[in-house]
Amino acid sequence: MGSRVWLVTGASGGLGQALVSEVLSAGERVIAVTRDDKPLQPLTAAFPGRLRTVSVDITDAGTLRAVLDDAITGFGRLDVVVNNAGYALAGPFEELDDAELRAQFEVNFFAAANVLRAVLPYLRAAKAGRVLQISSLAGQIGAPGMSAYTASKHALEGLSVSLAAELAPLGIRTTIVEPGAARTGFRADWASRLYGSAPLPVHEALARSAGAAGGQAGDPAGMAQALVILADMPSPPLRLPLGSDAVTGIGNARSDQLEELRRFTMLSASTDHTKAI
Ligand SMILES: NC(=O)c1ccc[n+]([C@@H]2O[C@H](COP(=O)([O-])OP(=O)(O)OC[C@H]3O[C@@H](n4cnc5c(N)ncnc54)[C@H](OP(=O)(O)O)[C@@H]3O)[C@@H](O)[C@H]2O)c1
Repeated sequence: MGSRVWLVTGASGGLGQALVSEVLSAGERVIAVTRDDKPLQPLTAAFPGRLRTVSVDITDAGTLRAVLDDAITGFGRLDVVVNNAGYALAGPFEELDDAELRAQFEVNFFAAANVLRAVLPYLRAAKAGRVLQISSLAGQIGAPGMSAYTASKHALEGLSVSLAAELAPLGIRTTIVEPGAARTGFRADWASRLYGSAPLPVHEALARSAGAAGGQAGDPAGMAQALVILADMPSPPLRLPLGSDAVTGIGNARSDQLEELRRFTMLSASTDHTKAI
């Protein structure tokens, strides 16, 4: 049977590549799904027979399924699936066109769904497995200039919460991973979004975020180590924030939400036929 097999999307750089490297170093095997396998060639050479790279467009469901079937059959098993590929379409909402918004969902939401459709039959047959959905701090909060990205990550989280409940009785555990800002190529193109037709406060917020690139607290290697620990947990959490900024941001958002819920309870509950409060 051999060691566990992971499937990681968005594997050519950033968190995905760090995870592939960490998993291989831990003695396990990886199917790395990528648009460009060149950055992974040193790992292929360093870990012979333990890394299969799959070059495919994850938004093309039909092709994706065929190549994943082939790779999974080649290794003979599948244990951990990591939906990691994603990008952030930054920009004031009014400056994003419909095609850009849909493209954001194609990669961050629908491609993850394509991967799940392709892999779940294998996990179901094994009556075991882990699904790690790489969301974001932005899957829990909003921020100016991030409407498209936060919408796509909130959608991924909504799918994942229900999916987790569907899969748990089958022995498959799902965790939504919520990284804070990490030092990857992730913010590389945000600066190109700074100039709209009219200056708005959102442009300043975006300029600050783009300017902070390179100084993010999160270390992708540390995040990769946390994901390996997560995949070993017998009772993994439904959600796992990564990074102190994610812990603080999500904690503050939930406290604010609870405080607001309490403050407006009378109005909220006043719409029942029979007054309960
Ligand atoms: N870095 C952060 O601050 C941060 C914070 C919270 C959440 N995240 C999430 O973490 C995940 C990994 O991001 P990262 O920080 O490692 O960023 P990254 O260095 O830009 O890597 C993202 C990977 O996603 C894939 N990808 C990007 N755009 C794509 C597209 N249009 N179509 C298909 N695949 C695409 C690429 O993989 P291939 O080229 O191999 O296909 C790319 O290597 C993403 O889901 C991101 O939303 C990142």
